[in-house]
Amino acid sequence: MKIAVIGTGYVGLVTGTCLAETGNEVLCIDINEDKVQQMQQGEVPIYEPHLDVLFERNIKAGRLTFSTSLEEGLEHGDIIFLALPTPEDEDGSADLSYVLGVAKEIGQKIQSYKVIVDKSTVPVGTADKVTEVISSETNVDFDVVSNPEFLREGFAVDDFLKPERIVIGSESEKAINLMKKLYKPFVRSGNPIIVMDERSAELTKYAANSFLATKITFMNEIANFCEKVGANVDKVRMGMGTDSRIGKRFLFPGIGYGGSCFPKDVKALHKSGIDVGHHFDILNAVIKVNDVQKKILIPRIESHFNGDIKGETFAVWGLAFKPETDDIREAPALYIIEDLLQKGANIQVFDPEAMPNVKRKFGEQLTYALNKYDAANNADALIICTEWSIFRTPDFNKLKTLLKAPVIFDGRNLFEVEDMQNEGFTYYSIGRKT
Ligand code: UGA
Repeated sequence: MKIAVIGTGYVGLVTGTCLAETGNEVLCIDINEDKVQQMQQGEVPIYEPHLDVLFERNIKAGRLTFSTSLEEGLEHGDIIFLALPTPEDEDGSADLSYVLGVAKEIGQKIQSYKVIVDKSTVPVGTADKVTEVISSETNVDFDVVSNPEFLREGFAVDDFLKPERIVIGSESEKAINLMKKLYKPFVRSGNPIIVMDERSAELTKYAANSFLATKITFMNEIANFCEKVGANVDKVRMGMGTDSRIGKRFLFPGIGYGGSCFPKDVKALHKSGIDVGHHFDILNAVIKVNDVQKKILIPRIESHFNGDIKGETFAVWGLAFKPETDDIREAPALYIIEDLLQKGANIQVFDPEAMPNVKRKFGEQLTYALNKYDAANNADALIICTEWSIFRTPDFNKLKTLLKAPVIFDGRNLFEVEDMQNEGFTYYSIGRKT
């Protein structure tokens, strides 16, 4: 099939590349000329595991091409994916100006029947708005489909190629059949393609992300309570997670959820509620609890240093909002670093992928280490913010000789409390005894 993908952010790029992988001819459109040139030369503009291999293979095969022209995209594609940014507005709602701007241009340039697919996370009612905007510009027949993505950064390629489900929001038989044909190769295992109306599809995405954010936040509250009553959250998590109604995943407590999706989507759903007079009290609580959780280590750090951290040096391992990505959007590490800097501390950081992004944000305020040990050199304590695999089995003896004192604040519970005591560390973690 012939596909155009408008917008080559992480969703657009993964979608375009994976659709090319099953033999479709995919043209990716972006307004950023430099980025398009870079991609034409075979360079992947983001870090996403396994994407480079597929990217190269499909460019070589001539199935994956790039352009800055929306008109070309419209000529090429029978299905036009919109994978555009929907940033957070000042009031927490999703800003639809990119989506509706492109919809208007599509209306002005469309020549024949197209299926326009909303792939971005968009508020309920957006498919109707897109339809309205296009219709106001043209009489050409078209359908708008809501097809939310459920890709996790770091696992996006795998998630796209082997989805647990595909959600298609449309009431047009013609569009539904085209979409089913497109996705058939991805659900050979028998996973479902769930067809529903556009509004339900749009809400499914927000409800799924908000539920997962709530699940994590609930566990964070349980962890904080565990500390007060002397329970161990790891044991509680296992005891709960083995109940299949609860499930084992997304029960890991830590220093809060971050990233480009959960924080934005929870706030947007909360705001959509307010707009129609529905108060999502539960989401209000999730937002509040997570804001506190992101800085939960700060009072512990301050109390360990008797209330004064001015002039102390901290090593920070992990800056990305989660492992296997260079994405630092809403990363808890940034909140911690900002707070410590404000209080006069020195910070030595290391992350396997996110260092360039952090350097762009903090510049010379931080010391950028070459590796995890380099970051720990002469530091008064180590703070762990992201659970990258390379942090899981450090040489503790080496770490002890590098750190001025054997103190670790672990925001991701990488180690067993008992092991750390045996290794001679003062070890603070989440939801467990120190
Ligand atoms: C999330 C969803 O998982 C995807 O299904 C969705 O498609 C995507 O948002 C999106 O809307 O585009 P992502 O933001 O890449 O994916 O990352 P997750 O793996 O879901 O992690 C989100 C945050 O929750 C991270 O900060 C992570 O550290 C935190 N988390 C996750 C926990 O604190 N505990 C857990 O048990 C799991």
